[in-house]
Amino acid sequence: MSSGTYSLNDDLERVLYSREAIAERVTGLGQKIEQEYRGRNPLVLGVLKGCFPFLADLVRSMDVLMEVEFITLSSYGDETQSSGTVRTVTGLSREVQNRDVIVVEDIVDTGRTLSHLVKMLKDQRAASVRIATLLDKAANRVADVEVAYSCFDCPDAFVVGYGLDYAGRYRNLPLIGVLKPEIYG
Ligand code: PRP
Repeated sequence: MSSGTYSLNDDLERVLYSREAIAERVTGLGQKIEQEYRGRNPLVLGVLKGCFPFLADLVRSMDVLMEVEFITLSSYGDETQSSGTVRTVTGLSREVQNRDVIVVEDIVDTGRTLSHLVKMLKDQRAASVRIATLLDKAANRVADVEVAYSCFDCPDAFVVGYGLDYAGRYRNLPLIGVLKPEIYG
């Protein structure tokens, strides 16, 4: 780490999705969502912290009136396995009643985080709730969630970058890669 030649990429076993591949998929998805939400003034709700690069790129590829809101949920802490309990770190500061909500996530893994959030939004009488995720790791699903939009089907590996972290690190990697097991082992 102290070496001047250290690169975040050195901690990766392999690159899964390059910067270019991500840009292409995210832009394409933004254009698709734009078609479906034109004239509906959606409330785009990012789930922090992991959503930040994806949300920033996604909304800039959508030429529609919208509002952007964030909620901070956490279930992993510094662990690689979900604790199973979803904690609201920072709640909503805007009404969702009667709004078309697009939830933006970096990854749907067990599905617990989004199943918790979707229930909360429905309890608060959102008009509609749809999920847009960068990665869908369907193999790990334990909770029932309907993913409307996804950029990539993610293999069952520990991935970091473009918002995804290990112990708070690697979110700033511009690509997505599989972390070397010795880093978290
Ligand atoms: C990650 C990710 C999702 C959630 C997905 O969040 O950003 O919110 O886990 O996992 P699940 O489908 O198994 O619930 P994390 O709790 O690590 O917080 P972070 O966004 O701050 O990294």
